[in-house]
Amino acid sequence: MNYISLDCNKATQFFSPDEFDAALERADKARSVLLKGTGAGNDFIGWVNLPTSYDKEEFARIKEAAKRIRKDSEALVVIGIGGSYLGARAAIEFLRHSFYNEGDNARKIHGAPEIFFVGNQLSGTYMTDLIEALRGKDFSVNVISKSGTTTESSIAFRIFREILETKYGKEGAAKRIYATTDKKKGALKSLSDVQGYETFVVPDDVGGRYSVLTAVGLLPIAVSGVDIDELMSGAAEEMQRLKDTDGKDNEALTYAAMRNVFLDQGKSVELMANYEPGLHYVAEWWKQLFGESEGKDKKGLFPASVDLTTDLHSMGQYIQDGQRIMFETVLCVDEPGSQVEIPEDEEDLDGLNYLAGKTMDFVNKNAMYATVLAHTEGGVPNLIVHMKDTGEKSLGALFYFFEFACGVSGYMLGVNPFDQPGVESYKKNMFALLGKPGYEELGEELRKKL
Ligand code: PA5
Repeated sequence: MNYISLDCNKATQFFSPDEFDAALERADKARSVLLKGTGAGNDFIGWVNLPTSYDKEEFARIKEAAKRIRKDSEALVVIGIGGSYLGARAAIEFLRHSFYNEGDNARKIHGAPEIFFVGNQLSGTYMTDLIEALRGKDFSVNVISKSGTTTESSIAFRIFREILETKYGKEGAAKRIYATTDKKKGALKSLSDVQGYETFVVPDDVGGRYSVLTAVGLLPIAVSGVDIDELMSGAAEEMQRLKDTDGKDNEALTYAAMRNVFLDQGKSVELMANYEPGLHYVAEWWKQLFGESEGKDKKGLFPASVDLTTDLHSMGQYIQDGQRIMFETVLCVDEPGSQVEIPEDEEDLDGLNYLAGKTMDFVNKNAMYATVLAHTEGGVPNLIVHMKDTGEKSLGALFYFFEFACGVSGYMLGVNPFDQPGVESYKKNMFALLGKPGYEELGEELRKKL
């Protein structure tokens, strides 16, 4: 069963068969480098086999911990940023109710606690509001940080540790704190060992943005009631499909080849468009995956996203008619989760009776195809990535499809798709301005520039 498929019909008119064939040949070579583990960053390709090679004992512990949290907590606070945040949020927002945290929805619909994300920015306002929202509720914390030293998540964890310890005492708090971090090193690992928190591992050979199918993503996702066996099984099927095929039979290679053709033609932006609000964070996850993997050595497409049809009423004008710097990748869910029919109205004062009896999805899909045609005519090549449905298997497959395509595309570009040296620059400046010991001189220098 294919959960993912790629439709390139509205892209092929923008390049010659020779351009594509040459790119596909490069994609094939990059695929071998990835699968043989001979490329740059090859100590971070543990994600390639992860859908089947994952630690089964830890997987069982994740399910046990999720069961406990579902039983003893009205809310789960998930602390993490970047790769330690986006995958879990993407999965929960896509696979769970659109209004998951509203009213009693989480409990009534999914038998699960509310889930709040924090430590993904530094806003005191957001923190105050979250603390307020949790008042009177029994809650647990899953703190996620591979390095165990990230400022945003460390500050949030210090605050929530104190709240939990005041509420439940040190021992009670320890039973409600779950830490996902490095197997051996980092401040979070040592703190967890001293305090006796249950810990889960971010494997050494899996970088943050490729870690959604490790405990990083799986624990919060399992707490929300998602079937993580199904998620892994969808990813495993996709892994097999992409390992077993090459050339144009491999849709991840085709996607990677087309991205590089457009880049070579001078496009600088890949715009991901979705037609389901539940896909908003999938696009955020995808942006990090490709942005951090390819944006280096002054190379790479800038990954951007729009939520449609919403943004057709704000960004639509630019996409149709602004600078011709982009191509578009549409994420389409073939079978939506549920259907709503448009009612007949006797008076038809709004003139909508021509749609009576049709579903919202019928209108949505036609809006999508109308937009694809309009954008293509406006000079924006369009690719459509189809997901079979809104289930776990489709999402697991989608995660793997993009990870694989990203590894291949990064190697085609000639970069190491598994490091992120650029993110250190802001941290150094931030530590200096905050007065962190060891950064005094730089701090003085920077203050003069402000
Ligand atoms: O993909 C990455 O490596 C980054 O986005 C990290 O996940 C992010 O910086 C958070 O790092 P850590 O998990 O060490 O707190």
